Amino acid sequence: MKTTKICCIGAGYVGGPTMAVIAQKCPNIKVTVVDINESRINAWNDADLNKLPVFEPGLDSIVKEARGRNLFFSTDVDTAIDEADMIFISVNTPTKTYGKGKGMAADLKYIELCARQIAKVAKENKIVVEKSTLPVRTASAIKNILDHTGNGVKFQILSNPEFLAEGTAVQDLLKPDRVLIGGDTSEEGEQAIKALVDIYANWVPKDKILTTNVWSSELSKLTANAFLAQRVSSINAMSVICEKTGADIKEVSKAIGMDSRIGPKFLKASVGFGGSCFQKDILNLVYIAKSYGLNEVADYWEQVILMNDHQKNRFSDNIVRTLYNTVSGKKIAFLGWAFKKDTNDTRESAAIKVADNLLNEQAHVAVYDPKVKEEQIYADMDYLNSRHSVENRALLKVNSDPYEVCKDAHAIAVLTEWDEFNTYDWQNIYENMQKPAFVFDGRGLLNHKELEEIGFIYYKIGRGTKV
Ligand code: NAD
Ligand code: UDX
Repeated sequence: MKTTKICCIGAGYVGGPTMAVIAQKCPNIKVTVVDINESRINAWNDADLNKLPVFEPGLDSIVKEARGRNLFFSTDVDTAIDEADMIFISVNTPTKTYGKGKGMAADLKYIELCARQIAKVAKENKIVVEKSTLPVRTASAIKNILDHTGNGVKFQILSNPEFLAEGTAVQDLLKPDRVLIGGDTSEEGEQAIKALVDIYANWVPKDKILTTNVWSSELSKLTANAFLAQRVSSINAMSVICEKTGADIKEVSKAIGMDSRIGPKFLKASVGFGGSCFQKDILNLVYIAKSYGLNEVADYWEQVILMNDHQKNRFSDNIVRTLYNTVSGKKIAFLGWAFKKDTNDTRESAAIKVADNLLNEQAHVAVYDPKVKEEQIYADMDYLNSRHSVENRALLKVNSDPYEVCKDAHAIAVLTEWDEFNTYDWQNIYENMQKPAFVFDGRGLLNHKELEEIGFIYYKIGRGTKV
């Protein structure tokens, strides 16, 4: 079975980059990415590559190469489904905000809508690939809908979770640690698995393409994110002890990371992990565990989230406490709003919670981020529903000049580890701030010796003040 046409439903942070790379590496396959969000599709089609809806280093040149050749972005979902041999579902699966499982379970309404639309449109056999992150056993629900509402054609469901991280998506897609494909163990299932393996084999070494049963594949994605997030919460928990004892988390991370059983990655203490995946996927895992009555398992993983909430709150608490227990009317400059560097994504960014806490204390927050747009920052604040949007706009200002943002500030908070922050003229920034001038480095990014020599009072996550 040779795939000649692929459709991907969902042109977001996963669908867009993933399909761009497939199209680049498989010039003989026509790849159409569809979305109901017209403005997003227009942005993917924009002649100005700076206007692509997803900022990822290296993505613009791949889109430039493949778009219009064998990569297409469209709002015509039905036509793309009808034409395709293989359909990827890459829609959002956010945490439910209503009903049973509110605040925990994954909201699968977008997935179900896709399944129903595929069933309605498909007039020939299709392979349906779960690219979205889904609770274990979702494939059986999708199969049920497809088989009971379709036109009598046959569907094979594969699970092919995506492991890319934002900010490094292109590199992760070009050189993945592994590609995971779960499928049915029947002969048809194995043929479907082979069809997807053949696509990835165009650029991924065969030994990195792992095939499993569907349930292992679905559960592996949740497990990977839980393990990664758990490492961040573990190191953040140790950062609190460092601050109390005079140890330095950077030194502790290095010391433990050199143990080959632990490894050096994902041991950076921070103001707390963000992003659209970690919190959502762990909550989902907790919900699944609870639904099987596995309360101890649920409590174990929930702690990762609780520690992360604590890390964000204690960062803002520390700012208030250090600024003599009041930030009312004081300007606090935020460097960074994205949840990590090299992305314009702000979902669950620690900056949002820290800003909210400081606005509750009547601080004036000024924000600079090199890639996040002003309207996104206000949308993030309004989404919390903590105060009227007029008040958010009065208390929080966004500026495209970092020096203006820091001018007259009592303190600077570093929320994202953008490289450019290290290239700033810190002497100049110091001279234009209120004194004493504080820096709260939530990413351990800046050169503390340089800053302290200039005169800043510098606080870094995980650096003890006792010597
Ligand atoms: P996203 O919100 O950026 O994109 C999802 C897109 O799907 C949106 O543009 C939305 O309009 C579209 N959509 C929703 N319902 C639709 C429908 N019925 N028809 C057509 N389009 C529809 O989400 P994302 O970050 O790309 O994540 C997608 C999935 O991939 C999620 O399950 C997520 O957990 C998973 N994932 C995300 C990442 C990441 O880094 N963002 C990494 C790995 C896996
Ligand atoms: C994550 C997974 O890494 C990826 O495999 C999955 O497909 C999607 O979820 P992403 O959320 O895009 O990717 O970025 P990631 O690099 O994992 O960072 C997540 C958060 O953890 C960020 O806020 C980051 O700043 C934080 N982090 C990461 C730390 O605070 N310390 C670290 O050592 C690593």
